[in-house]
Amino acid sequence: MTIECAVVGGGIIGLAVGEELARSGHEVVVYERDRVGETCAAAVAAGMLAPAAEVDTTPPATTALALESHRLYPEWVARLESLTGLPTGFDRSGTVVVALDADDLRELVHLEEAQRRVGFETRRLSREEARALQPSLGPAVVGGLLLSHDWQVDPRRLLTVLVGALRRSGGRLEEGRAVERIDWGDGCWRVRFRDGEAVAARRVVVAAGAWTRHVPLPGIPPFPIRPVRGTVLRLGASLESTYVVRTPRVYVVPRAHGETVVGATAEERGWAREALAGGVFELLKESRRALPCIDEMPLAEVATGFRPAIRDGVPLIGPVDDAATLLVAAGHYRKGVELAPITAALVRAAVEGGEHPLAPTVDPRRFGRG
Ligand code: GLY
Repeated sequence: MTIECAVVGGGIIGLAVGEELARSGHEVVVYERDRVGETCAAAVAAGMLAPAAEVDTTPPATTALALESHRLYPEWVARLESLTGLPTGFDRSGTVVVALDADDLRELVHLEEAQRRVGFETRRLSREEARALQPSLGPAVVGGLLLSHDWQVDPRRLLTVLVGALRRSGGRLEEGRAVERIDWGDGCWRVRFRDGEAVAARRVVVAAGAWTRHVPLPGIPPFPIRPVRGTVLRLGASLESTYVVRTPRVYVVPRAHGETVVGATAEERGWAREALAGGVFELLKESRRALPCIDEMPLAEVATGFRPAIRDGVPLIGPVDDAATLLVAAGHYRKGVELAPITAALVRAAVEGGEHPLAPTVDPRRFGRG
């Protein structure tokens, strides 16, 4: 039996792509190496949807993707939630970027200029105005910016919702399916698993996050993706409002259900997973400067994840071969959760032979053949 479409990777991107294809009537199976949420970057991520706050550290092509994804997000999550009856934690309160000293204030001026160039609405906040939005902010805050379009979603909930929506749309998920090799022969792809089994598929989408370059695709040089480790803390209490708080050094994402997420380090340490005390210390030190109440919160979890960083900072989304039988959707670095809806839309357009206006900027063939 030959299936129509095999998606390799059951992280946020693989599931979003699988769900989009399944709901559009394609036969899809998503193959996840571990269990969903066990090792993927989204299971660690804070879930900020932050096109404005990250505009000056993001390549313009990726910001263009983020803006389109942002436009899609409200309808996308509403559809997934109504299909499954489960919450995603999507919250549009907004983000307050705060300054803690004169250097930070000057940095906010540059950030505001960068945001205005792209057309974002931002508003300067006095200390009092910032604290009115997020009463948990402490006296060290000297001013801020309100980014009303920088939202959040809960990535762990979103993974669960995507699995449910994939199944409801007729797609399948197989966990514990580590891919050994993908070969072409007799007019289809053969995906071989480490357990010795294999499936035939007319089309394969590789969405294996930071592991994408380790999926062996014979004849195609590895994509220039590497793991950049992030350490993220989960604290067992909420802040006083659901406004996300950022300083130039740390971000703090409050959830309504008694959780506060503090992130994140960016460490070039290959595949080493153990969090380092120094990283945890920096996150706590910087977050409690803005939010002294953090001192009193239980430290519920220290987690590390591997962001799929790519050389030019622009994800790879689209076909690798001329007939669009082999596609890739990877290299989203800090923005996998944020770019999930636009990635799913781009893959669907490629599979259905449509032209998406953003496709040329994310063409996986831009690094040469692979
Ligand atoms: N999206 C934020 C991070 O990667 O830390």
